[in-house]
Amino acid sequence: MSLLVFFGVYLLGFIILAVILIWFLSMTFSSFIGSGFVPIPKKVLKDILNSTSVTKRILIDLGSGDGRVLREAVRSGFNQAIGYELSPWYFWESRFFNRLAGLKYKAQVLRKNLLSADLTKADVVFIYLFPEIVQKLMVKIETQLKPGAVIISCSYPLDTNLAPSLKLIKKERIFNVTTYFYKKELYDTL
Ligand SMILES: C[S@@+](CC[C@H](N)C(=O)[O-])C[C@H]1O[C@@H](n2cnc3c(N)ncnc32)[C@H](O)[C@@H]1O
Repeated sequence: MSLLVFFGVYLLGFIILAVILIWFLSMTFSSFIGSGFVPIPKKVLKDILNSTSVTKRILIDLGSGDGRVLREAVRSGFNQAIGYELSPWYFWESRFFNRLAGLKYKAQVLRKNLLSADLTKADVVFIYLFPEIVQKLMVKIETQLKPGAVIISCSYPLDTNLAPSLKLIKKERIFNVTTYFYKKELYDTL
């Protein structure tokens, strides 16, 4: 009996250590692929999404982490929220919570590199990433985003020299997060 208890405790300890190790490797992996996992605080998310008037059809979160932005977007009225997340841990975690919330179809996460994201249908693009990787996205933003689409960038401003059709429409400090709102405009052809 005591041998059984010993092996039970041993196995439990092994499982806990394995989970901690996988979680730690996922954190390291996220930093390695472009931006570490720093989730946007839930209390600011609602205010950010409702702070400016946008068309609430499709929101894309580039680097969607645990999927909190996707779920809150759907709850705040978006028809669909799509996330790009390369880290396996956060991908599966967000799938699990999306299903648990009953949002399997409206909040979807793709296990793809955000640099290959298709932004053509987005009404809103949500960005909470390190500036280095955002810099690599600017040409895609400039060429793919449709006129009228809005980019919400948390903590860091965008380099609009690389995307001249973006106009800063609002900069707001929401709790402790400075948030930048940009709108894609048509070029003035005159
Ligand atoms: C700062 S977190 C933001 C998470 C979420 N958007 C939020 O606001 O709570 C950045 C996320 O982007 C993911 N990420 C970083 N580089 C990526 C890449 N090249 N492709 C896909 N996901 C990436 C990381 O794994 C991490 O989960």
